Parts: sequence; C-alpha cells; structure tokens
Amino acid sequence: MAKDVIIALDFPTKEETLHFLDQFPAGEKPFVKIGMELFYAEGPDVVREIKARGHKIFLDLKLHDIPNTVKRAMSVLSRLDVDMVNLHAAGAGEMMRGALEGLTRPDGTRPMLIAVTQLTSTDAETVMSYAKNAAKCGLDGVVCSPLEAALVKENCGESFVTVTPGIRFADSAAGDQKRIMTPEKAGKSGCDYIVVGRPITQAEDPVAAYRRAVKDFLG
Ligand code: C5P
Repeated sequence: MAKDVIIALDFPTKEETLHFLDQFPAGEKPFVKIGMELFYAEGPDVVREIKARGHKIFLDLKLHDIPNTVKRAMSVLSRLDVDMVNLHAAGAGEMMRGALEGLTRPDGTRPMLIAVTQLTSTDAETVMSYAKNAAKCGLDGVVCSPLEAALVKENCGESFVTVTPGIRFADSAAGDQKRIMTPEKAGKSGCDYIVVGRPITQAEDPVAAYRRAVKDFLG
C-alpha cells in the first residue's frame, strides 16, 4: 500500500470545505478525511461531490453498535465509493467481521477498514490487544498514535496499515493533541498514512503546508 498524507477536512459546511479544496491546482488531488462534523452537517452528498472531484476519501465515522447494525450501515457507506472507513475496535470480533461483510461490494471490492484503537488513553498494551484482534478479524489496519505505529507493525505484521493523527510540524502549535510527531519522524516510524488537520487547514498557505507534509513524510 502507498504511503500518503490525508488532510482532515474538519469544516462545518460544504461551502467552506470546497473553498478550501479550490485552493489546490486542478491536477493535485489530496487524499482527504471527512469526519462527523461535515458528514452530519451535509450528509452523503458532500462525500459524492468530493469523490466526483477526484479525491480519495477516508470517511471517519467511527462506527460502534450491534454487529447487524454496523454491517448494514457499512453496506450503505460502501456504496458511497469511499476508499477508507473505520469503526471502534472495542466493538469486538463479531462486529468487525460483520462490518467487513457489509462493506464488500457485489464485485468483491471494498473500502479499507481501519479500527480505532483508543481515543485518548496512552496504554500501549490495550492498543496492542485491540490491534491484534482487528488483524485477526481480517481488518486492514488501525488508527493509532504515531508513537505506537512501529509496535503495531511488530505485533500485527508489516502489511497491517497504520493511520496516524497527532501530526505536527516542529514549528506548529500542538493544540489539543498531546502525543504528537512531525511528518518526517512519522515517515520513519512505520506510519502508512498520516492524518493532518489544522497544521494544513489553518495554515496561511494550506497548499504549501500540504506539500511540505508530503515531502517531509515521504522523504
Ligand atoms: O487538526 P488535527 O491535525 O489535530 O486533526 C486530527 C484529525 O484526526 C481530527 O479530524 C481528529 O478527529 C482525528 N483523530 C484524532 N485522534 C484520534 C482519532 C482521530 O485526532 N485518536
């Protein structure tokens, strides 16, 4: 799988989101993440519109419910033609396997399915047990701290994908992220995808900030 930088589109409206994306030249289509804020505000249409513009999409809705509900919800999300979706690893095996089933399209393809290990805690042992369970259920990878990416790879195998938020340039504000890493260090620490929000979206020159993240991360 190709390493990439994913921009977190944490905007409250479609207008602001498209205005942000319009800053990129026509041929440059960053991988983007649509989270709860934008999805709840604008619904699936905003996903279709951004997909139609040629972006890869990580739909970050962190599903967690009974297995049947998650399976059915995933089958709806799969039809949106997104590239990556996620759920909470705390939902356990039956839910994760149901999600995979729901996601699989009639032609056998499906978006990547990533498990959220933990939102705030820093207990590496718990992260590892969630990661191993997700791998055992056939998921593609986990969302984890960049500080845990190497350990996840060690435990779950090199091809198990790590998607890591909490990325900051050495000279950018940490904000509410506590366990942070620079794109350059993340690139050398077993992170496959880095999710970068405010250091790009709030930058004076977002396109330059995105390119800097890509250059630092990919080396
Ligand atoms: O602005 P910032 O770079 O902190 O954005 C990080 C993005 O990653 C946000 O969209 C946030 O919801 C998401 N995220 C996170 N920590 C997690 C899971 C997701 O920061 N554990």
